[in-house]
Parts: sequence; C-alpha cells; structure tokens
Amino acid sequence: GRVSLWGGRFAGGPADALAALSKSTHFDWRLAAYDIAGSRAHARVLHRAGLLDDATLEAMLTALGQLAADVESGAFVPADDDEDVHTALERGLIERAGADVGGRLRAGRSRNDQVATLFRMYLRDHARSVAALVLDVVDAIVSQAQQHPEVAMPGRTHLQHAQPVLLAHHLQAHAWALLRDVQRFQDWDVRAAISPYGSGALAGSSLGLDPEAVAADLGFDSSVENSIDGTASRDFVAEFAFVAAMTAVDISRLAEEVVLWATKEFGFVTLDDAYSTGSSIMPQKKNPDVAELARGKAGRLVGDLAGLLTTLKSLPLAYNRDLQEDKEPVFDAVDTLEVLLPAFSGMVATMVFDTDRLESLAPQGFSLATDIAEWLVREGVPFRVAHEVAGACVRACEARGIELWDLSDEDLTAISPHLTAGVRSVLTVEGSLASRDAKGGTAPARVGEQRERLVEAATAARAW
Ligand code: ARG
Repeated sequence: GRVSLWGGRFAGGPADALAALSKSTHFDWRLAAYDIAGSRAHARVLHRAGLLDDATLEAMLTALGQLAADVESGAFVPADDDEDVHTALERGLIERAGADVGGRLRAGRSRNDQVATLFRMYLRDHARSVAALVLDVVDAIVSQAQQHPEVAMPGRTHLQHAQPVLLAHHLQAHAWALLRDVQRFQDWDVRAAISPYGSGALAGSSLGLDPEAVAADLGFDSSVENSIDGTASRDFVAEFAFVAAMTAVDISRLAEEVVLWATKEFGFVTLDDAYSTGSSIMPQKKNPDVAELARGKAGRLVGDLAGLLTTLKSLPLAYNRDLQEDKEPVFDAVDTLEVLLPAFSGMVATMVFDTDRLESLAPQGFSLATDIAEWLVREGVPFRVAHEVAGACVRACEARGIELWDLSDEDLTAISPHLTAGVRSVLTVEGSLASRDAKGGTAPARVGEQRERLVEAATAARAW
C-alpha cells in the first residue's frame, strides 16, 4: 500500500488520481543530493540540542552516507508510491537505518523549510555553472575582437547604415551586456545565500535547534529572519528566472545578428561547418541553426519567467501547494542555458568574418555625413546649419549616384562656402573612427583600452 507521511489522522490512503497529481519525483529528484546534505546538517543540530545521542547520530550519518552513495550510483531511485524527493529519501533512510533511528530525523523540520533550502542550494550551484558558460561566450567574443582590432564595419541604427564603427567595438558591446548578466547572478547570490532551514512548516521550531548552525553547515551566509518569509517566499526563484531570461535575451540579440550576417545579402560571416546544418532537400544550404535555436530558446526562457510569476501572483502566506510549481520553470531555464551556451560560444569562436566586405561597406550609405557636420562645427558653423549642409551633400550625391568623397572642390563650395577641401580629411573611415576618441567611443585606441577593462572584469567575474 501507499505510505504517507501523515497516516495518523487518516483512515485510508490517497486516491490514485490524487497521488498522480501530487507526485513530483519526476522533476524534483535532481534535488536529492541537496536533500541528503540538509539531512546531515539537521541530524547534527538535533544531536547538539540533545535530541539524538552519539550512537544514534553516528548510525544516522552512516545510513545517510550509504543513501547518498546509492542515489549517486542509481541503486536507489524513487518508487512509484513516493510523492516527492523528501518522502523517497526518508523511505531510503529508514530502509538503511531502521524505523527507530530513521524516524527521528523528521523532528523539527518540515518539507516546507526543507524544499525552500534545497532549492536555494541547487540554484546557487547552477548560477555558478551557468555564469561560467556565459563567460565562455564573453571569451569567444573577446577573442574575435582581438583577432580584428582595427576592422571597420557599418554601424547601424534602425538597421540602416548610421556611422562606421569598429567590428571589435560592436562585438564588445554584446560582451558587456553578457558580463552584466553574470554580475546579476552574483548579486542575486547575496540574497539567495540565506537559509530557511529551521523555519519548520511556517512558525519556526520549538526543539531548540540552531538555524544559524545549519545555515553555516550548508554553505549559507546566515539563516532567515522570519520563518514565514523563509518558507513562503519565492522571489529568489523569480529573480533567478529573470536573470536567466535576460541572459537568453541578450544572447538572442547577437544570435539575430549572426543570422543576418550569414545571409548572402550581408555576407559578413561564414559559420564553421561544425556549427552549421544542411538541408535534406536543398544541397546548397548551410543554415545558422545554432543562432536560430538561441533566438527561439530566449522565448522559452521568457515563458518560464512569466509562468513562474503568474504562479506566485496573489498567493497568500505561508506555504501553499501551488509552490510546488516553482521548480520546473527554472529547471527548464537552467537545462536550456546549459545546453545552449556551449554551442553558442563554439559558433562565435569559430565564425569567420569577411573583413574586406565589412571594410568596404563601412562608408557606404553616406555613413560619413555626420563627420561632415561635425567638421563644420569645429570650423565654427552652428550645428543646425552644419546639419543642413551635410544633408545637401547627401542629396547632391544621391541625385548623381556618387559617394560623398566623389564631390569635387567646386561641388563642395557650390553647396556651401564653409565647405573647403579640408573636409576631405574626415571623409575616410579611418578619419571618422579616429575622431570618436573620447572614453566609450569607437576610436581604435579607445576600443583597445575598453577591451583591457572588459577582460579584467571578465577575469574578476570568473573568480567567483
Ligand atoms: N513537494 C513540495 C514542494 O515542492 C514540498 C512538500 C510540501 N508539501 C506540503 N504538503 N507541505 O513544494
């Protein structure tokens, strides 16, 4: 028959349909190792409070050690009748230590404080593994920037040619965004490093247990101030899901550019065969599936966050069973990032830029018009007039199908007496790039310094 944790008050076991609805072992089993770590720490505080004698503690820790090994090897798995990871592991403990020893561990704790603690432990570990994978993408981006320190490309706003920028500057913009996502995981961890163990079901424990000792034992910085908050809050889950979704959204923006860059019309990059797919019918196709999947998975992570927040909305305090729905969305977010990010960093590291094409397109679409206007400003012309004059240059070129640098000295003076031959000094991509040399600008020297700070910040983030 089905064993439940609440036999005393009930005449019969749960209906099959309830058991099927209630069951969570198919997704919460991944918390098993954390549950056992929590049980070890809990056994120690029970002992310290005088509720377990030395021999019982010894027997309990030995049994928990065996159970951990059996979980690890796959020798112990949840049974059909086990409701959740906690129930299954209690059964495993009793099977190994006997009902008298095993049955003592549940004193002073509830699955409510247990699960709130284990989930934090799981997410804290995965914040670190996901952050390391994001930093691999940052490294791949930085390495592309290092290989192309002075290559110009068309900088765009509204997807239209705007002003020339360095390819390295553009790539590094993506790296800074991803680095902030890593820093967000680190900031999140400060709030997640607080243990709810000892909160019991909601009101705290009456058994003289020391929550701070359990917290320290489990690698937390401290224990919660409020047992209701400890068992009922899930903002730590939602915040994690946000940072995961933000990471995927930032990845998707580079992914979208890679998809565009790999088209015949752009022709900016060629993807490595190892990170491209073919077509079952069209022999010539080489598809950017890694980038497309990255774009698609971002939607999935946004959905995980939205679903989770919707579950939490309006939930009264304290624990409600709805909270069991908090796990699958973030497990999905973690699993998705852990499979996506290695493929994405591999794609970025191996893509080959057509630097000649990038360079030749950089000044096209009259992207140096702003340089004319700013040159005029430096000559003392008010910007309003300068903007008009530069616009007139573009109009004249467009009418004749020529580029700005094709205008003769006579053409220039005819457009405005302010336009002397000196303006030609800024009508090159090199001149335009070099002129944007304040901090944060695309001048090659500034972009190089920026990259040093980027590498420094990424290295610091790695040390986490
Ligand atoms: N499996 C539950 C969860 O994930 C923990 C058990 C709490 N259940 C309860 N009836 N108090 O939230």
